[in-house]
Amino acid sequence: MAKILILYSTTDGHTIEICRRIKQTLEERGDAVELGNLKENPSLEPGTFDKIVIGASIRYGKHQPLVSEFIARHQSLLEAHPNAFFSVNVVARKPEKNTPETNPYLQKFLKKIDWQPQNLGVFAGKIDYPSLGFFDKQMIRLIMWMTKGPTDPEAIVEFTDWDKVEEFGKMVAEM
Ligand SMILES: Cc1cc2nc3c(=O)[nH]c(=O)nc-3n(C[C@H](O)[C@H](O)[C@H](O)COP(=O)(O)O)c2cc1C
Repeated sequence: MAKILILYSTTDGHTIEICRRIKQTLEERGDAVELGNLKENPSLEPGTFDKIVIGASIRYGKHQPLVSEFIARHQSLLEAHPNAFFSVNVVARKPEKNTPETNPYLQKFLKKIDWQPQNLGVFAGKIDYPSLGFFDKQMIRLIMWMTKGPTDPEAIVEFTDWDKVEEFGKMVAEM
């Protein structure tokens, strides 16, 4: 049994749902999993976990700054464990942009940080128009219109491939 820490950065909660599915996949295989919100600046003590996973969503082209800040502060501890990073964004709904190698946000992020995660994932996120404020709703509708996505202001569209999330969980179990 491994003790696995999954840290997340989210704005609207979808990344937590993805973390919960990874947790479930790992727990079914007998691992112990703890979830932690990067916003709460969790402390990483050496020897507390066997593996570490970080997941973060994209908003207006970027992960939250606290993600790279946390990584910079804890890089040596991250490197001392089997580790993985995944990004959640809606560009990843496009088949040609849904792998770590082809997702522009993940590639840009990797160039920005010094840490080289051992394993990578990219998952398509969710658009929940009714939950968005006026500005965000219009901006996302515009972006979706430009990229041939859904623009109905009442639509809630989940693009996440949950089988892919479970595969990632199995990979974490093996890493
Ligand atoms: C205000 C806003 C801005 C967003 N900007 C982007 C973006 O620039 N590129 C992208 O691919 N997805 C973008 N998204 C989509 C989010 O990454 C997606 O909704 C994801 O599921 C959010 O995860 P979270 O709920 O964990 O924050 C944006 C979503 C919102 C609401």
